[in-house]
Amino acid sequence: MKRFARKLELAILPTPIQPSGRLSVLLGSDNVVLKRDDLTGMALSGNKVRKLEYCAADAVARGSDILITCGGPQSNHARATAAVAAKLGMGCHLVLNGTPEALPEGNLFLDLLFGARTTFVSLPDLRDQAKSMEEIADAYRTEGHRPYVIPLGASDALGSLGYIDAIGEIADQVEKVGIIPDRIVFACGSGGTLSGIVAGCLVHGLNCRVTAISVAFPSQWFDEKVDEVFSGLREKYIPELPDPRGRFEVIDSYIGEGYGKASPELINFISDAASLEAVLLDPTYTGKALFGLMKEIENGGIDKDEKVLFIHTGGVFGLFPYRQALLDAFNKT
Ligand SMILES: Cc1ncc(COP(=O)(O)O)c(C=O)c1O
Repeated sequence: MKRFARKLELAILPTPIQPSGRLSVLLGSDNVVLKRDDLTGMALSGNKVRKLEYCAADAVARGSDILITCGGPQSNHARATAAVAAKLGMGCHLVLNGTPEALPEGNLFLDLLFGARTTFVSLPDLRDQAKSMEEIADAYRTEGHRPYVIPLGASDALGSLGYIDAIGEIADQVEKVGIIPDRIVFACGSGGTLSGIVAGCLVHGLNCRVTAISVAFPSQWFDEKVDEVFSGLREKYIPELPDPRGRFEVIDSYIGEGYGKASPELINFISDAASLEAVLLDPTYTGKALFGLMKEIENGGIDKDEKVLFIHTGGVFGLFPYRQALLDAFNKT
């Protein structure tokens, strides 16, 4: 497969494509398959390791010794970055927007286990974390370190190369079995995975609809984000990349009460998916996205005869902070 930049081999690839099994009962369709990117390895890093293979390669090439990134206290991306730093023998410093938990759990617990340092900030807009990261990077430089700053979600042109590769991988897999999906569906947060998937379909000639389920921002936000990543891709790696407009849709009607907020219906759905097919979904990303797919099939937005490839992007550790809500759901039945 053509490579547009150097990358480290950190993930276990290709990840399998599996039938959805008994989840088809929940989803109301026998035509959904799961691309198991929750099984990319690297301490269950999910979609993030594909992006970080590129960011970490760049960091290593520049002689960096500390990875700095940001997110919420339960950020999967921050935890995956901490895991990659540990694997590479580098330091890691995470800027986390929120308050420290008295007893760190889920992703935050793993950040600490992987040896990452944390700085908690309280910012109304996640994007303001860039400034905090730069201040921390400057402090490390003063001490003689060579820090490398990875943007929110590694959702820039470099990180998105990971999902261009993922689409190449999917194209190979589906061609072998002769079943080309009509549509790819997945969770989108900071837009890097979406940008990579849209670009990947163009680069690898995979002709299917791309439907992202937003867990945070309104759909217009992603139009700008994809444009921005595409500009970076054209400038640095793929000058001939066509226009992304009209090549994807973002559905923003399943955000619910907000990022990381789970309705009782979503909690029940996650609990059903686990007990029916042993598929672990998290309330922030994959649960919302698969729930959204189910609802779209139910309301006819997606035809139940369409062949859908759902990318399971990981995030299992984000399940643990919702223990109480899930246990309450079991008690009700
Ligand atoms: C489990 C999981 N799925 C999907 C996403 C969305 O990826 P992106 O931020 O590239 O839109 C994330 C991002 O943090 C994630 O952690």
